[in-house]
Amino acid sequence: MRDVKVSLVGYGVVGHGVVDVLNRKKKMLREMGLSLKLISVSDHTGTVFAEDGINAEKILGERTLQNVATCSMKGKEAVSAIDSDLVIEVTPTNIVHGQPGLGHMEAALSSGKHVVTSNKGPLVVSYGRLKKLAEDNGVMLKFEATVGGTMPLISLVERTLGGNTIYGIRGIFNGTCNYILTRMAEEGIPYTHALSEAQDLGMAEADPSYDVEGVDTAGKVVILANALFDMNIKYSDVDVIGITGVTPEALALARKRGYVIKLIGDVPALTVRPMLVPVDSPLAVAGTLNSAAIYTDLSGTITVTGLGAGSIETASAILTDIISIYRTKRIDAIF
Ligand SMILES: NC(=O)c1ccc[n+]([C@@H]2O[C@H](COP(=O)([O-])OP(=O)(O)OC[C@H]3O[C@@H](n4cnc5c(N)ncnc54)[C@H](OP(=O)(O)O)[C@@H]3O)[C@@H](O)[C@H]2O)c1
Repeated sequence: MRDVKVSLVGYGVVGHGVVDVLNRKKKMLREMGLSLKLISVSDHTGTVFAEDGINAEKILGERTLQNVATCSMKGKEAVSAIDSDLVIEVTPTNIVHGQPGLGHMEAALSSGKHVVTSNKGPLVVSYGRLKKLAEDNGVMLKFEATVGGTMPLISLVERTLGGNTIYGIRGIFNGTCNYILTRMAEEGIPYTHALSEAQDLGMAEADPSYDVEGVDTAGKVVILANALFDMNIKYSDVDVIGITGVTPEALALARKRGYVIKLIGDVPALTVRPMLVPVDSPLAVAGTLNSAAIYTDLSGTITVTGLGAGSIETASAILTDIISIYRTKRIDAIF
């Protein structure tokens, strides 16, 4: 069995999860016929490189690579120079210019390396160009972890529901907003109170606007629209209203009438807004959960629910994408 040489770019919450999961699942993957060898890990301080495979135990205790880096190469330079088969890109998201992830993905794809990512920014800014770059170089770009974390949405639509026409997807794609709305509804507390609770729990950033203004959800709507509905849209095409105007009174009134209020992203409507959802709808999940309803012609409505974030959970979606790449390659080899 040939080793698949893997490079990881970004060593934060998700990067640590990836190293941990690849290490834990090594035996299981080999039994499936897939031998993944992590040969490099890079963050903004440098790169750990080991041609024979990195010893995960040696780096998992390190928050950054500063004390363990074996070379000073980083970013695009490391992606291009290291002879890997597949690059996992998990640097911070920027949905305005897509960097640094966009440069990493372009460097990887143009040098014939598959890319698997949890980073929304490059896909929001440049999905069409990245997809073409992958096709031109005979490699794959996979991004299940960018929408709904561990919830299998993209692969469900692309593969499992392959014979269906998909009319639309509506969902809760931001766990922080869902937590805030759930707490406001359950406790009758105002938005500011629920937000500071989420911040105390480390769930919301000091500047929470990316989540609560609906920016994160809109980025996911762009990814779903372009990847699953061939829509070729930009972020500015999405009509976005966040949750800052939702009051405990509105939530209480909704509850009286049998509804909850949720921040819903809708494709192909291209909207993000707080909406009434019946309390008994499978979409009406509580806390930090994400959910998505997929409206189809043959299968009716299918709803998936899962954890939208988390180190191991996001790494799980990344691993699923890696396995899918090598299963697809095997099927291609047969035909
Ligand atoms: N956390 C989640 O549960 C979750 C879920 C789904 C998707 N995502 C997405 O996954 C990505 C990673 O998230 P995260 O939570 O792991 O973020 P994070 O903890 O901030 O980690 C980002 C990592 O990238 C490194 N980095 C920054 N600039 C770099 C560069 N130019 N070259 C190489 N490395 C660089 C950072 O180094 P320094 O910290 O030293 O700057 C850090 O190691 C993001 O795009 C995020 O939106 C996260």
